[in-house]
Amino acid sequence: MLKIEQLQQKFGVEGAVRIEAGRGSLPKIVVATDLGSAEIYLFGAQVAQFQPRGAAPVLFLSRSSFFDGRKPIRGGIPLVFPWFGPRADLPESPPHGFARTRDWEIESCDARADGSVRIVLASGGDDATMRLWPHSFSLRFIVIVSRTLDATLEVRNISKGDVRFEDALHTYLAVGDVRSISVEGLDGADYVDRADGEKRKKEQAKVIGLTGETDRLYYSTAMKVMVRDPALKRSIIVEKEHSGATVVWNPWSEKSAQMKDMGPDEWQSMVCVETANARDCAVQLPANATHRMSARIGVAAL
Ligand code: BG6
Repeated sequence: MLKIEQLQQKFGVEGAVRIEAGRGSLPKIVVATDLGSAEIYLFGAQVAQFQPRGAAPVLFLSRSSFFDGRKPIRGGIPLVFPWFGPRADLPESPPHGFARTRDWEIESCDARADGSVRIVLASGGDDATMRLWPHSFSLRFIVIVSRTLDATLEVRNISKGDVRFEDALHTYLAVGDVRSISVEGLDGADYVDRADGEKRKKEQAKVIGLTGETDRLYYSTAMKVMVRDPALKRSIIVEKEHSGATVVWNPWSEKSAQMKDMGPDEWQSMVCVETANARDCAVQLPANATHRMSARIGVAAL
């Protein structure tokens, strides 16, 4: 991998993109323009922060997150691939796959005429991934930073046959107080309640409030999800494409107390609204085909 100074020389864009050492000395891309700013670690291709100019941070990043280049970063947008959660057939495999704990390469950083910045990161398979998942693939992660954040995970199947995988943009949204937010846009969707013995349920509520540990996988293909946050007087809107599921997750007090990478009360300031393809809507991808899953994250005043 190139050194940080070499990366800066090759990919830095005057007045828009810098590559510098982030926490734990891990290389990160810092985007700052008149429209917005973002930080993306090469470890996991993980977006760690995003804010439209003048707005408060949109993504939650744990103060206690690991930044050791081995364990996943807690917050921002971890990339989940090629399985979601604990692996069904091999539970000793790393949860949520290996994409979030790999060092990704920068493919390009471009400032565009409309004032946005487009960053492309790439990763692929090797002996280590082959041992875990015996398929050939290449990944690209495309991030466009403007007043909104657009994130696209692109999976290309370069194996000889079909591959089946799960993926997710495991987005941690920053909220004022999770106990007072409401999540809208999932009414009528079937879901798997992973915090209630994996029971299958149907969402009856137009406006969902969180009152305890929440871990739900909604089968919602094209829905726009809005998180209304009265404490921060704003809504965060997540729109998506080519994603058959939306996961809503908050570990609440008891579970988060067992997590080494979450501070004592930090669970109150986050909710995950994840753009995903998992379980019943895992992706079946023919040889030489490419799958693209996208999310657009934006904010609006309440
Ligand atoms: C969510 C899952 O997507 O991620 C939860 O639905 C899980 O079950 C959570 O606990 C966090 O996972 P991890 O591996 O980052 O601790």
